[in-house]
Amino acid sequence: MASVVGITAIALLAQHVQAVNNGLARTPQMGWDNWNSFGCDVSEDLLQGTARLIVDYGLKDLGYEYVVLDDCWSNGRDASANNSLIVDTEKFPRGMAAVADDIHELGLKFGMYSSAGVYTCGRFAGSLGYEEVDANSWAEWGVDYLKYDNCYNSGEAGTQKLSHDRYNTMAKALNATGRPILYSLCNWGEDYPWNWGPTIANSWRITGDVTDFYDRPDPRCPCDGPDAWDCSLPGFHCSLLNIINKASFVVSKAEPGGWNDLDMLEVGNGGMSDAEYKTQFSVWAAVKSPLIMGNDLRIVKPQDLAILSNAAVIAVNQDPLGSSAARRWYYETDDVDQYGKGSIQMWAGSLNSTTGGEYSDMVVLLINGNNSNMTMNATLVEVFADSGGAISDQAKIAWEVRDLWANRMSNEEAQAIIDASSASGNYTSGFNATRVGGENRYNATAKSYSEGLSDADELLLGNVTTTVQPMGTITAEVERHGIAMFRLRAVPTGSLRKRTEL
Ligand code: GAL
Repeated sequence: MASVVGITAIALLAQHVQAVNNGLARTPQMGWDNWNSFGCDVSEDLLQGTARLIVDYGLKDLGYEYVVLDDCWSNGRDASANNSLIVDTEKFPRGMAAVADDIHELGLKFGMYSSAGVYTCGRFAGSLGYEEVDANSWAEWGVDYLKYDNCYNSGEAGTQKLSHDRYNTMAKALNATGRPILYSLCNWGEDYPWNWGPTIANSWRITGDVTDFYDRPDPRCPCDGPDAWDCSLPGFHCSLLNIINKASFVVSKAEPGGWNDLDMLEVGNGGMSDAEYKTQFSVWAAVKSPLIMGNDLRIVKPQDLAILSNAAVIAVNQDPLGSSAARRWYYETDDVDQYGKGSIQMWAGSLNSTTGGEYSDMVVLLINGNNSNMTMNATLVEVFADSGGAISDQAKIAWEVRDLWANRMSNEEAQAIIDASSASGNYTSGFNATRVGGENRYNATAKSYSEGLSDADELLLGNVTTTVQPMGTITAEVERHGIAMFRLRAVPTGSLRKRTEL
């Protein structure tokens, strides 16, 4: 009897471990998805061409790995006993396995989309009730990633249990295929997925869809403002600040293998300024959101390629500790823009790497949501609030302040990469920006971020701009709607604590 109980316990445990931990997304997933710039206009050529550019531009070497095909790829279900999904052969003439093969040949991975509903949001066939059949099709085609939406869910939502169970059916079906498939929930934050998502999935969207605006209010994205996390109608058309505000409450839910998803990047889609796009990229990186590019890479502008290629910022996202930065303070101000919005905030969080001493590096973000450029300050006491603030050991030592945007690639360099890539007429086969750029370019496929950080690779650490003294203040000029992003490293010698201990 005892052994029967033992076996049952082991079997249950094994089941649990498999569902929680499929070994994927130990750091947030990185890649590209077509939705933000192409919507339903999908095709084999688009995916192939984009995958090629991810390699040419050196983005693959920076860690962008998944090429994700969003909604609108299918054409109903077939008449077989299984009722399998049919691929739209006008868009994908060679079928989906051929697309997966092409992407794999480039050393990248392939993602697809469906909905935990009767239809997808674009009213194509959904997977509710067909979880096993569809998971098997995807595994057969060589799919590595599933983005799973929430449209037409037949009312199977409204409590955490209902949503959990509906999404768990697909989690089990994916696991049962035996193929490692990263599972990305897209239920827009409905029913608090940060509570139950971590037990079944690798990431979960925390809000309605992002839009290409910094802080424009929109009735389609209710629950605006700093206290708006408890949102039963997550909506869509959510601005950057709306999403950042909502993220501030759920930061503790991020951990290796499971991440809060702030939705795809808008960098390069044209609706925001360079400063605003830097803000999105920096915050998404620091809260450990998946970094999924959402722009048309065939017409990428050099300044946007430079943002997406910033290895020092990506290194924060891919930090092995996997702990999200948290908001330390937020103030509304009178310096408002055309939408009547003005605010400033500061976020900080621990990173894994150390200078060999006992204090881990910190990331610090100063976010200027005011309508004018301004000088912003963060004290060490505020940055180390979670370690005890004024009485923390960390506030009593000196820190290097390293600017993570200082080594951003120049527009000239980015343009030269674009001109030599397969997006241009000058392409010579085999071109790859990392190979050409050599030492100036971080190659995470050769040396992981984790290794690079423990080697104190300068490409990842940013430029030392100043040293902040014990109990001191970090100061930065921050552009309107822009951000300053620093890595703090404990000054290697002579920490006050050590001196007082002597
Ligand atoms: C939305 C989802 C978007 C996109 C779209 C496709 O629900 O949040 O990211 O996938 O559906 O129809």
